[in-house]
Amino acid sequence: MKVLAISASPHKDTGNTALILTPFLDGMKEAGAAVELFYTEDLTIRPCRGDFACFCRPSGRCIMSDDMDWLMPKVREADILVFASPLYVDGVTGPMKTFIDRLVPLLQMYIETRDGHCRHLPKDTKIRKIVLVSNCGFWERDNFDPLILHMRALAKNLNAEFAGALVRPHGPFLRSAPQSGLPYEDILDAAKSAGRELVRDGVLSEKSQAVVSRDMLSHEKFMQVCNPMIGKLVERLGREDRS
Ligand SMILES: Cc1cc2nc3c(=O)[nH]c(=O)nc-3n(C[C@H](O)[C@H](O)[C@H](O)COP(=O)(O)O)c2cc1C
Repeated sequence: MKVLAISASPHKDTGNTALILTPFLDGMKEAGAAVELFYTEDLTIRPCRGDFACFCRPSGRCIMSDDMDWLMPKVREADILVFASPLYVDGVTGPMKTFIDRLVPLLQMYIETRDGHCRHLPKDTKIRKIVLVSNCGFWERDNFDPLILHMRALAKNLNAEFAGALVRPHGPFLRSAPQSGLPYEDILDAAKSAGRELVRDGVLSEKSQAVVSRDMLSHEKFMQVCNPMIGKLVERLGREDRS
């Protein structure tokens, strides 16, 4: 089974998104999947120019030449696509959206009615499952609702199954947990279990998804500690700005 993961965290393997993505991919590898991971930060992917050439050309070739030239064959060969992105303004980051827009040649331009809805006809993709990995700064899990809706829609359009989401609210608290003493090991274990489940069962269990998203501290405590932390950052960056 081939898994292609694309991470759009600008912090790559040192970011908060990676805290969940890394054990998740490890779990998949343990279960026997061949996993490849690429960071949009390392890639040149230019924004779609909306000329429909890739949609209409039998080769699916874009008029632009960039890293999508070699990435698209990998996308087409993958059984599972993992989209990993921090939450930016209620959605994916700009580079991830650019990557998603460039997936258009996976489909034909012709449309059909599928489950009572207009969809493009499938073309030459093996992709069966789509998974989302994300984290955000705010406390509430419902911050991910618009992003999950987007991923569900993307899966339907690609004629694939949305196999689940590993979303981590108040993500920066997972990073500081070893220092702050907040329990966190079960969250990393659940991310790894989710990887094994995806390869073994084809879906992420509700339990693993819930543990990855569980509260790490109360809303009240979050509000108590956040603004003083933000104050320190504002002060430090303000000093750097003035010097
Ligand atoms: C431009 C920008 C927009 C953001 N928008 C949101 C948001 O809408 N909701 C939220 O809860 N966090 C938001 N965040 C916070 C990030 O999701 C959070 O810092 C995350 O942990 C970053 O992950 P990373 O370390 O992998 O980059 C935003 C951060 C940036 C830089």
